[in-house]
Amino acid sequence: MPVLTNIGALARCLAEGPQDDADVLHDAALAWDGASIRWVGPEKDLPQEYLGWPAEDAGKRLVVPGLVDCHTHLAFVGWRADEFERRIRGATYLEIAAAGGGIASTLARTRAADSGSLRTACEGHLAGMVRLGVTTVEAKSGYGLSLESELRILAVYRDLALAGHRIVPTLLAAHVVPPEFRGRREAYVELVIEEIIPQAAAGKLARFCDVFVEESAFSVDEGRRILEAGKRHGLRPKLHADQLTSSGGAELAAELGAASADHLECISDRGIEQIARAGVVAVSLPFASLYLGVSPLPARRLLEAGVPVAVATDFNPGSAPSYHLPVAMTLACALQRMTPAESLKGATIVAARAIRMEGEVGSLEPGKSADFAVIDADSVEQWLYHLRPNACVRTVARGREAWRAN
Ligand code: NIG
Ligand code: FE
Repeated sequence: MPVLTNIGALARCLAEGPQDDADVLHDAALAWDGASIRWVGPEKDLPQEYLGWPAEDAGKRLVVPGLVDCHTHLAFVGWRADEFERRIRGATYLEIAAAGGGIASTLARTRAADSGSLRTACEGHLAGMVRLGVTTVEAKSGYGLSLESELRILAVYRDLALAGHRIVPTLLAAHVVPPEFRGRREAYVELVIEEIIPQAAAGKLARFCDVFVEESAFSVDEGRRILEAGKRHGLRPKLHADQLTSSGGAELAAELGAASADHLECISDRGIEQIARAGVVAVSLPFASLYLGVSPLPARRLLEAGVPVAVATDFNPGSAPSYHLPVAMTLACALQRMTPAESLKGATIVAARAIRMEGEVGSLEPGKSADFAVIDADSVEQWLYHLRPNACVRTVARGREAWRAN
């Protein structure tokens, strides 16, 4: 039952109020008991009962909720630096994919890996993330694309969750049509609907069902059928929408009441209007925009329309080869014109809402999980402005020390 005292600034990131207000308290304290937060407030108001608890000094630093990376493709094997170079030399993402590279090349290597090596790779990435202050990670399948391989990836996520990582699993069997189904895409859509979704749901291996709706992947109609099947099995929809072309993905997200619509670089005005009305969270993925050389999503127009905008990494070996969420948050400020407060809420409480975890994580208030990061900066603005390899000096997850700088 410790109390963290001498906190220079504590960003509570409450769900209520504008995204531009991170609810910062100065000279604050935070008390937690076991895995839950008990008290948060100005240190001068710390109730008597906590005075006897063991105190830890935050050294006037900034404390933020444990970061939530609400869009990653965590389980994959092999990197694709060659494609990075080919794109720099002028090839497009779609040309590389058409030539057998892209998602298909990661697919082959991931399918060939056994569960043990997949798990070891994921653990390595998770260990890197926790040092940056990330305590909740949404993780998609999508580099298996067969019944056996998709379930294997999801089972790795289940095992990581059982080992104490806060992982929220998403079935992305509809990432692309795998090569062996070329010319028979309908048969693959049926496999997803008739077998992969029901088995993933029956094994409680996924909470969400995601579809990449794009010319090179799945049509709006295919996406609708797949996501409706997911819904029938209790999997909430999510979409990779309007990333490379404006293809009606956001509109579909609104129609289906998706938890989030992600990417949205090419979202239409109609799409903005519809997701605003449907209460869909927009997930911005600045690394993917940066690495593919496309303009980022119109964050200001979305926020002005009343759409909450989350910030995530999209960590994957193709379009976003980094799990550095704080850098993505800085890019959201610099490239998407989100304020530091909007970016922080985008990677905490709004991200938590995108994965329907806002009741447990994403803000610092009594009853929530004691997940927080101590940042070596005196304000949210200073943190996200001064780009450093890592400003996080300590991460606490479920009340336990998950990492500390020495
Ligand atoms: O979110 N858009 C589709 N999926 C990933 C890219 C995956 C890959 O290139 O391997 C994304 O950007
Ligand atoms: Fe993605």
